[in-house]
Amino acid sequence: MSKELMEQNIRKAGEAVEKNKERIRKGEMRQRYHFMAPAGWLNDPNGLIYFKGNYHFFYQHNPYSGFWDCMHWGHAISKDLIHWEDLPVALAPSEEYDDYQLGGCFSGSAIEHEGKLYLVYTGVMNTPAGIEQTQCLAYSEDGIHFEKYAGNPVLRAPEGVLKDQFRDPRIWKHENRFYMVCAASFHGRGQAFLYRSADLFHWSFQSILSENRGEWGRMWECPDFFPLGEKYVLTCSPIGVGDHTSICQVGKFDYKTGIFDCESVREMDWGFEYYAPQSFLAPDGRRITTAWANQWQWMPLFKDWGPAYKEGWCGFFNLPREVSFTKDGRISFRPIRELEQLRENPMHVKTLTVSDQREAVQAGDGVSFEMKFAIDLEKTTAGCLELELRSGKGKKTMIEFDLEKGELRVDRTQADGWSVGVSRSSLFLGGKKELDVHIYSDQSSLEIFTDQYTNNQSNNIFAGNDQNGVFFISRSGETVITDLETYGMKQA
Ligand code: FRU
Repeated sequence: MSKELMEQNIRKAGEAVEKNKERIRKGEMRQRYHFMAPAGWLNDPNGLIYFKGNYHFFYQHNPYSGFWDCMHWGHAISKDLIHWEDLPVALAPSEEYDDYQLGGCFSGSAIEHEGKLYLVYTGVMNTPAGIEQTQCLAYSEDGIHFEKYAGNPVLRAPEGVLKDQFRDPRIWKHENRFYMVCAASFHGRGQAFLYRSADLFHWSFQSILSENRGEWGRMWECPDFFPLGEKYVLTCSPIGVGDHTSICQVGKFDYKTGIFDCESVREMDWGFEYYAPQSFLAPDGRRITTAWANQWQWMPLFKDWGPAYKEGWCGFFNLPREVSFTKDGRISFRPIRELEQLRENPMHVKTLTVSDQREAVQAGDGVSFEMKFAIDLEKTTAGCLELELRSGKGKKTMIEFDLEKGELRVDRTQADGWSVGVSRSSLFLGGKKELDVHIYSDQSSLEIFTDQYTNNQSNNIFAGNDQNGVFFISRSGETVITDLETYGMKQA
């Protein structure tokens, strides 16, 4: 046990960030209003919480370079979820149970208890018998300086569960008990295990909260579990199911039995970049979730960590989204209203009829902007509406609202010479009068929300500032667009 070693490693990490952050800040691919680390690598959101007057975001972090390696917990605070103050690294590897170069302090969550902020995370160690992942605690009075619990680890993998596939504890309190859901792989099938505790330090297994027979993957990373209205929601990122990055299961839950009765499963976002979502409660009661705007799959394919890595950093969070049910009971994820404070240069057009002639649209500087409109499905005769974004220098990203096939596609095959793929989701248009669309474009990302925020796609693209054209084109007929609003988005 070495408190000094953790302090020393935090200092070292701080020096590395300090040395590089000014150069990195000037990187061309840096986002303008999405949450990022000041330097180095970022993946999963960890320990999201509102504590003593501030939102705290922690994140999986390599402070030394823009690639994944030896995980620390980065840390920042905010009053409004838009403007962030970076704080020193909160957790650094320092103990036998978490000091492994290809491991470290893996993902976890936070809870307030008796005025202290507790973090629960996965310690990853390398033993002669192989890699072992265990659940560990750290705590803090001020929410900035953390101390690891002397009795760590507090939880080890149960019999039959692979020791290197037991991680990402998500903690909460209900009545006078603490609960934790943990990701596990049981004979090659992803599962979520439920534990409970009276004191945070002693945990006992309660139930298998949810499992699958392989259709949803061999491991469920970063499970999250929360009440929403009368229901409960379990979210996770499954491994081994292609580009399905994050799923949500909605159902009923009984604390007495620990049984979660899943009624529906669907994807949270159909884009390529939405991974490891974690939610938290705002003081006004909103359930807000955010995710790592990326996924693991592309890395080995490219053997290259991408354009941001070349600038000394990599990774950002998706825009925080408020989770709720639509009037007809579908789960929806709507960007938080706090984002409106970044709007500038508003533009509004009541009705725009688009033909097969490219129609240019003014939207901020064409790089950092917000755009809202509806497609009038009654007056529209077109088979497909195309929206060409980040267009210039012979490159472009296409959003295709295919009204004939009932499909929304984001095609980034010509986006930037680096990004690949066409992401797809179904558009259910039967009986609808209009289709609502909401788009956020930032320096390196596009997030599209449609159908009352139930059908969303997040994708990253790495285009320069000279790719700033925005155009509509209508195929096989005319498209009638109503209430087109655009705004430039200020730097946060
Ligand atoms: C998900 C994940 C987690 C793990 C962390 C390591 O992206 O693989 O399961 O705790 O990243 O950085």
